[in-house]
Amino acid sequence: MRLQVRYAGKINNQISVPGDKSISHRAVMLGALANGTTTVTNFLMGADCLSSIACFKKMGVEFGQPDKNTIIVKGNGLYGLREPDDVLDVGNSGTTIRLIMGILAGQSFFSTLTGDASIRKRPMGRVAQPLLKMGAVIDGRQGGSLAPLSIRGGHLKPIEFISPVASAQVKSAVILAGLYAGGQTEIREPYKSRDHTERMLAYLGADIQVNDNIVKIMSGSNLEGKPVEVPGDISSAAFFMVAAAAIPGSRLTIKRVGINPTRTGIIDVLRSMGTQIIIQNEEEVNGEPVGDICVLGSELKGTVIEGSLIPRLIDEIPVITVAAAAALGETIIRDAAELKVKESNRISAMTVELRKLGVNVDEFDDGMIIHGGGKLNGAICESHDDHRVAMSMAVAGLLAKGETVITNAECIDISFPGFAEILNSLTY
Ligand code: S3P
Repeated sequence: MRLQVRYAGKINNQISVPGDKSISHRAVMLGALANGTTTVTNFLMGADCLSSIACFKKMGVEFGQPDKNTIIVKGNGLYGLREPDDVLDVGNSGTTIRLIMGILAGQSFFSTLTGDASIRKRPMGRVAQPLLKMGAVIDGRQGGSLAPLSIRGGHLKPIEFISPVASAQVKSAVILAGLYAGGQTEIREPYKSRDHTERMLAYLGADIQVNDNIVKIMSGSNLEGKPVEVPGDISSAAFFMVAAAAIPGSRLTIKRVGINPTRTGIIDVLRSMGTQIIIQNEEEVNGEPVGDICVLGSELKGTVIEGSLIPRLIDEIPVITVAAAAALGETIIRDAAELKVKESNRISAMTVELRKLGVNVDEFDDGMIIHGGGKLNGAICESHDDHRVAMSMAVAGLLAKGETVITNAECIDISFPGFAEILNSLTY
């Protein structure tokens, strides 16, 4: 699929975006492990979350779908999964494979996991290592660090794990395995990453303690199914936030978005670039803060993004580079080497694609410097089969003279079905 985008005038609108991808995955997984029913509203029907559902169906969990964006998870309890009779295929979803690894480590059966070409290149050793220490038997390509992976779980023991990376997927896998380890598992990360697993586990009744970047999970407590409302995904909202921020005179409100502080780095960065952002109607749903985000566009200026801010906006960096291209002066991004092991190498993908539009970019091993403020010219861009690269280049297309085409744009459905329709409604 090719996505065509033209230079846009001011944006003046109110929209909503689909449900949060991270929270949707966790609702499927924790709902499957809970006793009773978990009804999930505003569930993200993106390809990644559907992969999570498909994997749990293969382990004997039943799902219902009473309407377009609602699912019902009929939980089997902590010990109610059954051995899948075929390979579990996670498609393009890093969250599915890594979080499921933690759950499978606790099951006393055999399973195998694989995914698409991108998943089969992404590092799994960072998850396998702590799970091996807990007692799971895991193997795979390259010494167990690449999918396809095989797991024989059960009989886990608790560990104290110091994670070398600030990764919610690694942290969550160890927390989920911790539900099955006899005693208390402790996880410490260099910087606090998104904490949706911790919040949903606490909401469903697990014995979990969180102190900044340290999590302690006690095995043994049952989870109870409860209703979950998934907030709008701030990572999806970010594309339109940047579009409105970069077009002076724009005013855009995005309703009922998740504003969990581990995810709001995009708000901090846009404010530091000179954007006025107002948050209204704040409330908490199932342990997660939500609110309406109103963005007022103006001239942007360059900024520096590094350190503990990185995990708070890791998925938004591609679109932040687009804001940086529109901003006066330099934007420096460093400490972001994790971008190289996402759905694509997002440092090189964004460098290559922005240069096609005429942006002056320096590429580094752990980030980029974007020399902003120059004129952008429409071009033919490539998605690199990465949903966030495709959507970021679509936003860049709104700011570029003439027409921009994004090829292989069907990957957008991974996280944001309906993106093109919202984009069109904003600009034409
Ligand atoms: C996610 C965690 C992040 C993020 C990904 C979703 C999650 O990955 O990039 O899109 O749902 O836990 P890492 O944990 O590898 O940083």
